[in-house]
Amino acid sequence: MKKIGIMTTGGDCSGLNAAIMRLVAGGIRRGYQMFGILDGTDGLIENPPAIIKFDDNLPPPEYIRMSGSFLKNGNAKAENFNTAARAGKLKDFQSKLKKSIEKLDMDALILIGGNGSLSLAHNNRHVYSNVQIVCIPKTIDMDIPLTERTIGFDTAVQGLTAFCDQLMQTARSHHRWFVVQSMGRDTGHLALHAGVAVGASAILIPEIKFSMNTLTKHLKNSPRDYGVIVVAEGIKMRGHSGEAADMVARELKKNGFAVRTAFPEHIQRVGDTTAADRILTSRFADAALSAIENNETYVMTALVDGVAKSVPLTDMFNSGEVSSDPTIPDLNVSNSFVPLSSPLLTAAISMGAYVGEIKK
Ligand code: F6P
Repeated sequence: MKKIGIMTTGGDCSGLNAAIMRLVAGGIRRGYQMFGILDGTDGLIENPPAIIKFDDNLPPPEYIRMSGSFLKNGNAKAENFNTAARAGKLKDFQSKLKKSIEKLDMDALILIGGNGSLSLAHNNRHVYSNVQIVCIPKTIDMDIPLTERTIGFDTAVQGLTAFCDQLMQTARSHHRWFVVQSMGRDTGHLALHAGVAVGASAILIPEIKFSMNTLTKHLKNSPRDYGVIVVAEGIKMRGHSGEAADMVARELKKNGFAVRTAFPEHIQRVGDTTAADRILTSRFADAALSAIENNETYVMTALVDGVAKSVPLTDMFNSGEVSSDPTIPDLNVSNSFVPLSSPLLTAAISMGAYVGEIKK
């Protein structure tokens, strides 16, 4: 009987519990023994490793909508890749992790992670050499290359849209502009999707340079004297520092606009898992378990042309834009940015939003 471990790593998002539940149900049905690793690699490195066994006593189906992770994602105080690398003890940490995995004696590890965790797995193949590694992409940033969707993204878009919808109503009463700062790290996928959904007057993302002058003119020429401007947290403004929304709001105020800022922050990572995210977790869980059945390793589930399948982790890494990780010395991560050819940019411009200095 195959022994399969599941772990969630990196920042949480909605849909992790749905993924765990779908994997456990599917694994048990296939006759596998299913285990959960607590706190991601932080729990894996513990002596003995922090694991729980899933049996038929599964979480009730109504828990499918709950955000967060039943297994937890990691403990900032624990020894991990980040702390070990910063202390110059990465080799030591890697060999401890390898020993822990050997001790567990699992056939496969399913790693539900973001682009940092997946890139780490990609770069640490030697650590995981004794076990089948199957990754499932999750992140509200949607910055993982190769897959058309990541778990948690749809719920985050829905949450951020609902947040902006509410602000639009108070904006109208006071002839005001709300500058809403979205998460997304260095990418603008989340800001762009929610901005289009809410009908934002402007959407500023790190991938596209923008001009405050043009933005100001755009708002002055707007048929309304209120609205929402969605700015991604990763945007930069030459000569300015601080939070993205504050930088933009400050300049708008100087130009006479009535402005407020709003920061939904970690609310974007939680909220009832949307139907689309639940369906995606079911499809990814099935693709992950099929990959295990077929003895594949070093693969990631991905949605490619609408089909959920497993792809080599190396293909994921090589198809993105590689940059160095600011938190782990010597680690390269692979990212997927909003391409200038994105049909959503075309749609945003077409509905009258300012999205920066691009011609479409
Ligand atoms: O990567 C997910 C994410 O939510 C980013 O969008 C955001 O920049 C970051 O994590 C926030 O991290 P933390 O939970 O450490 O504040």
